[in-house]
Amino acid sequence: MTATKLPERVDADAVLNAMRSAMAETASDSSASRIAPIGTQSETDICNITCAEPAIPARFRAARLSQFLDSLAEIADAAVRASQQVAFDAVTDWCKRVTGGEPAMLALVGATGVGKSHLLYAATYALYRRNVRVYAQPWYRLADALRYGGRSAWGTNKLLEASEVRDEVMGERVICLDDVRPTSGTAFDDTELGKIILDAWDRESAMLITTNVSPLTQVLSPPLASRFVQVVMTGPDRRHT
Ligand SMILES: Nc1ncnc2c1ncn2[C@@H]1O[C@H](COP(=O)(O)OP(=O)(O)O)[C@@H](O)[C@H]1O
Ligand SMILES: [Mg+2]
Repeated sequence: MTATKLPERVDADAVLNAMRSAMAETASDSSASRIAPIGTQSETDICNITCAEPAIPARFRAARLSQFLDSLAEIADAAVRASQQVAFDAVTDWCKRVTGGEPAMLALVGATGVGKSHLLYAATYALYRRNVRVYAQPWYRLADALRYGGRSAWGTNKLLEASEVRDEVMGERVICLDDVRPTSGTAFDDTELGKIILDAWDRESAMLITTNVSPLTQVLSPPLASRFVQVVMTGPDRRHT
């Protein structure tokens, strides 16, 4: 007669610890954790991106936060360097809040050519590489589409009614609007932009806007402007350098 072998006593703590370390290894090997911190040189490491590609205009497709940070050292004027560093820090902080799912409303304000759009699209790209879906549009384009209808911001050729354009942008958690300006000086644009801002604020979403109009209250009413952390950027006009 053969004796029945009883199963060895299972050490629950040991099993739990083994599972924890296996999970930790998987996590540290995941593509997301291999992405370098925002603003560092290797921010473009390969990763699995499943989110939709944001609309980055050709001019700004190569804009990178890491390159922006590196180029700060070359700025001779200390005041300009400090201003650009403050803007960079504000944008990287905004990105971190966005990746953490926190609400964040940031406005970059400054004269023509100082690098506001460059920073906005570099941030858009950095978030995209981290698999964060970012709705990005120049305001002039969105303002037109809100008025007359237009193409989806997601690169499809589908034509949307004006109300569908509004639904599209208002459904987003991360919205980047470049070059906010009184597009045609009408109450219509002000109202539409106001609704988008209020909606983002109420839903605790994230918005990054840029504008040449300083102070911000000249382009947004004071109650709307007050929802943004405002950063003034200075520097030379780099458009023709
Ligand atoms: N740090 C930078 N490194 C390289 N090119 C830059 C940098 N900042 C701005 N540029 C370029 O200079 C030009 C003007 O910058 P832009 O972001 O359009 O200015 P703004 O939006 O403030 O008017 C753009 O072609 C932009 O790509
Ligand atoms: Mg610009």
